Order: sequence, then structure tokens, then C-alpha cells
Amino acid sequence: MEALEYASQCVFERLETTRASCVLILGSGWSDVANAFDLISEIPYINIPGMGAPGVAGHAGCLRHCRSGSEDILIFQGRRHWYEGHGWTPVAIHVYIARQAKARAVFLTNAAGGITEDMTPGDLMMITDHINAMGDNPLIGPHDATWGQRFPDQSAIYHETLRGDLISAAGATGAELKEGVYLATSGPTYETPAEIRSYRALGADAVGMSTVPEAILANAAGIKVAGISCITNFAAGVSPEPLGHDEVLETTERVMPTMTAIIREFVTHVCSEPA
Ligand code: HPA
Repeated sequence: MEALEYASQCVFERLETTRASCVLILGSGWSDVANAFDLISEIPYINIPGMGAPGVAGHAGCLRHCRSGSEDILIFQGRRHWYEGHGWTPVAIHVYIARQAKARAVFLTNAAGGITEDMTPGDLMMITDHINAMGDNPLIGPHDATWGQRFPDQSAIYHETLRGDLISAAGATGAELKEGVYLATSGPTYETPAEIRSYRALGADAVGMSTVPEAILANAAGIKVAGISCITNFAAGVSPEPLGHDEVLETTERVMPTMTAIIREFVTHVCSEPA
């Protein structure tokens, strides 16, 4: 916790705000979404103690303080992953900063493999719930009231009101928004076809290597959570093609304008709601 507090103090000393209505954590390839908002100040991850340098292509590695109307928002251009092997601190920093900024909402994006038949590359899927198949949990360890109760309720992590806001935002932009359950593995390997068959049987619609830890932490801290997965590829065995990160980035780039439009609309709406 001391590491998180130190990181957060360094961030708020450098940024021109200590508050944010909404915090976006943008996954693989989504950093350019930040260009839709007025930039006020920014801090490269390299200058955030404990965050470390970006390790994955497509993760710019910068925290931007932007404005949506008159509201301050924070945008993390790139996230940290558990598979990077530095423990939970780099993953938790984003959410801790959101908590310290008294954010009303944390919005998460990721790239994911489509498991169910109707999840095809290029689709956007609003996350309705998740399955933690990472084999770990960021809240393991001594109880710290920063993250709420010892045993946080998770019956409705992806907040109903925000889900409604996302549906309206997609409607306003004319984009199709599918809905489904996101399953997270630890990575960094993609899944085997047998694993994907088992995840389908468990009720997962899409699979990835992120998002779930941040959602667990934000929910535990009492922050509303919403998220969208971009289906960048068919999951292993769904199509005969082998999987690769290039395909993930290509699809992300193709869907960027739609994703950006939805997020801009969504953030404008969330920021205009009474606190
Ligand atoms: N599996 C896991 N993570 C992913 C995938 C996938 O198929 N696509 C993008 N991220």
C-alpha cells in the first residue's frame, strides 16, 4: 500500500488536478482514444514510481489528465499486466489513483478473443460480468480497508446505470454494441482449443489477459465500473488460424473510430451526471 500511496502522491504533484470524474484505463492499442479529449497535462509511466516501463506493443505508457467539458478526467494510455511478472502493484496503481481522485467511474477497455459464435473480429462487447480464471486475485494478502471489506460483494461489478449509459452512447453513435461475459486468464500464452471449449461451457463469451483485476479492485473500493472488449480475433480453435498480437493490433486500429466515438459520448454523459 505504501508503494501505491507514493505513486499516487508523485502523480498528483505533477498533474494539474487531484480530482477526476472518470478514469479510463485503455488496453492494447487503445491509447489514441485519449486524443478525443482536451489534454491538460500528462506524465509518462516511466515517471510514476512502481509503474515500470511499457512492456507490450500498443501500450503507449502515459497518464493523461484531460478535460471533458468542465470535468477533469484521467486516461491511462496502456495498462500493466500480471503476466509481466512485477506483482499486483503496477496493475493496482491505476485503480488506486482513481480512488484517490474520487472518481465516480472507472472505464476499462481491452482486446479479447471471441469465444461464442456471435463474437467476431471487429465486434465491440459491453462486459456484463466476468470470470476470474487468472489463478490469483489482487486482493490476496492482509486486509486493507482501502479496498473496502475483507470479502467484497461482486454480484453487480459492471454497474447497471453505466451499462445503460454505454448502450445509449453506442446508440447515439450508431454503433452496434454486443454484450457478454469476459473471462481473464493470467496469460501470456494464448489459450489452447481445449481451454476455449471449457471456457465456453463455463459461460464466457470472450477471453483476454486483463481487466478483471482492475474491475475487482475498483468494485471493492466502491467505484462504479464499466468496460468494453473489442473482439480482435476468434479464440483458439474457433477458427483454424493461429493467433498473434499483430492481428490484435490490426483489428484494434480498424475499430478505433467507433470505440472512440462511443467512449467520448459515454464520458460526456457520465461527467454531466450529478456526483
Ligand atoms: N486470448 C487472450 N487474450 C487475447 C486474445 C485471445 O484470443 N485476443 C486478444 N487478447
